[in-house]
Amino acid sequence: MTNPWAAWLRTNDRQSYVLADKVGWDAFVNSGPRDPLPSLSRDEMGALSDDALEDYNAARAVWHANPAAVRTTQVAAAYSVIDQVMAGNHRDGDRLRGAVVIDSEPALGKTTIATRYGRDFHRRIYRRYGPTTDTGSQRLPVVYVPLRSATTLKDLNKQILKFYRHPAGSRDTKADLVALVVDAVTTGETRLIIIDDLHFVDYSHRDGKAVANHLKGLANALPVTFMYTGVGLLGRRFFTEGTQGNPKSVEVAQMGRRTTRCAVAPFTLSTDAGFRAWVDLLAALQSQLLLADAPPDVLTRHARELFRRTQGRIGSLTGLLEHACHVAVATGIEDITADVLSMSVADNASETSAAAVG
Ligand SMILES: Nc1ncnc2c1ncn2[C@@H]1O[C@H](COP(=O)(O)OP(=O)(O)OP(=O)(O)O)[C@@H](O)[C@H]1O
Ligand SMILES: [Mg+2]
Repeated sequence: MTNPWAAWLRTNDRQSYVLADKVGWDAFVNSGPRDPLPSLSRDEMGALSDDALEDYNAARAVWHANPAAVRTTQVAAAYSVIDQVMAGNHRDGDRLRGAVVIDSEPALGKTTIATRYGRDFHRRIYRRYGPTTDTGSQRLPVVYVPLRSATTLKDLNKQILKFYRHPAGSRDTKADLVALVVDAVTTGETRLIIIDDLHFVDYSHRDGKAVANHLKGLANALPVTFMYTGVGLLGRRFFTEGTQGNPKSVEVAQMGRRTTRCAVAPFTLSTDAGFRAWVDLLAALQSQLLLADAPPDVLTRHARELFRRTQGRIGSLTGLLEHACHVAVATGIEDITADVLSMSVADNASETSAAAVG
């Protein structure tokens, strides 16, 4: 026996694509919104069999864990900066392009901005030029490379090659990785390379300097725009290193000159516009909740408390709401009340900060 919620789960359950690989990235780019899931009343839920109710709640858990990205003021501002830098993407191959760095504290939406922008860009290029290049290769307009800790030059090249599923990406080969990267980028007619979590490169270390030099070299050699994200890159002297006459870091300084910084700020309640932006975000999120007893202002009525709990950080907010939705369903309260919020835990950094302000 099946029920509509089990059927919904079969086609709408979580997607396990891995973005760091062309197949996963392609799946992400082509994933549409989930099929709508109705919000059942208490009576309607009461009429379900135990199995059907369990499946409906599982479907709601998937739904609540994957809210559609909201075009917040931060996202709109970031897109505008990235669009300006991407204007240089139209330059011919003999001209250098600038790069953009999305730089902020943790959990403010950098990866979301970078991947959503990359997805939109990928779709536009496919619409105009189709999935195959003139030489018959798969067109790969966007490459996404999430870095890991202590990334060395070799790691970086291998990770780029892994995205292309190039055999050298998994081998510890002595082959000229740089030449292979240039070849892969050229063959796929790649136009945008997103390097996520650049703070994993330590610029005070020899390996880190080699990576900076290499990225600059790739930017010189390839008709590609680089988009970097990272935590506190300004503080890590990503932009300024080498400008005090240190010749060893001149490549880092040169990168600073070619790079436009795009900061992502947390929300603030200290201005009217800031308060409105926070309430707009909550309104967009509350319209997606499926809880039987939730009033239309289920989140906006808690605007100040939600701000206090999360310090206006979108990643902490979505994490807290995911927990609160689970509590609301598991307890049968079916609403996000003050009690439900106090039973729901936020991430560790938010809890510590909220406790400090009282
Ligand atoms: N525009 C948005 N709309 C809805 N939710 C968002 C949005 N941006 C971010 N989020 C939520 O915040 C979470 C953290 O976002 P993201 O991973 O993009 O931040 P980050 O700045 O890259 O974090 P980190 O510094 O840890 O890499 C996401 O999982 C998502 O749930
Ligand atoms: Mg991130």
